[in-house]
Amino acid sequence: MNFFTYLLHLAGSSASAYIGASQIRDPLTRPNVIAGFQLAESGSVPFLQALSDRAAAEGDTWLAEKLARHASDEKRHGQIFAQALKRINKQVIDFKSIPKTTTEGKPDERRRSPFFEAYFQGYPPEAIKPENMDWTVFMASTYILELDASKDFVRMANVLPEDESNSVALKKGLLSIAEDETGHAAYLYEALQRRFPEATVQQIVDEWRTRKVNALLAMVSNMMQKSGKMSSLVQDGVPTEESEEESELAVA
Ligand SMILES: [Fe+2]
Ligand SMILES: [Fe+2]
Repeated sequence: MNFFTYLLHLAGSSASAYIGASQIRDPLTRPNVIAGFQLAESGSVPFLQALSDRAAAEGDTWLAEKLARHASDEKRHGQIFAQALKRINKQVIDFKSIPKTTTEGKPDERRRSPFFEAYFQGYPPEAIKPENMDWTVFMASTYILELDASKDFVRMANVLPEDESNSVALKKGLLSIAEDETGHAAYLYEALQRRFPEATVQQIVDEWRTRKVNALLAMVSNMMQKSGKMSSLVQDGVPTEESEEESELAVA
């Protein structure tokens, strides 16, 4: 990572931590933030499970076990966020109800993520499917996201008010999620170390750090174009049965 990227990284992570923290502290924006997390966490489960199966089929038991554990952790994270929404009588929107495109024929904003488009720039959608994804790409890209998520969740937990039971429960949930994310980052880094010498691992991680910085910039500029408006991911009411829907948002 060159020095300029490093500075941008610091600026980018403090900006996103600030946005995340202020949106989770504000009771008006909190449900939407929680819904976004629920979709991302639950949405990563089938992906991780498929990768675990693939690792097993390829004979890498160590990785298969780590991925299976990872999948079950993310499932739990999704449930923590679902529970947090339920406590305030909300639930995530039903993704099936969102048209694939808007009336002007553009893809609905909630179905695309400028962040992930930029993060995986140069990789066609086929290349980031679990059955095809290059292991190094998966490990490094996910390592960066897990590492940052572990810190972001702690920051968010710290700004939640302690005078109200729903917010206290969410704070506890966020801290336990953060601990898991730290563990995910650690095994992914170890997975890279099992494949490459340290200098190469550093190089690979740097490349994905740079990609993250660029993706954050893409996301911020997209938000500015929409003048800070976030698409709604949440609706009133308590979910009926298992309405857990996988989204196209990924990981953490
Ligand atoms: Fe998670
Ligand atoms: Fe994670």
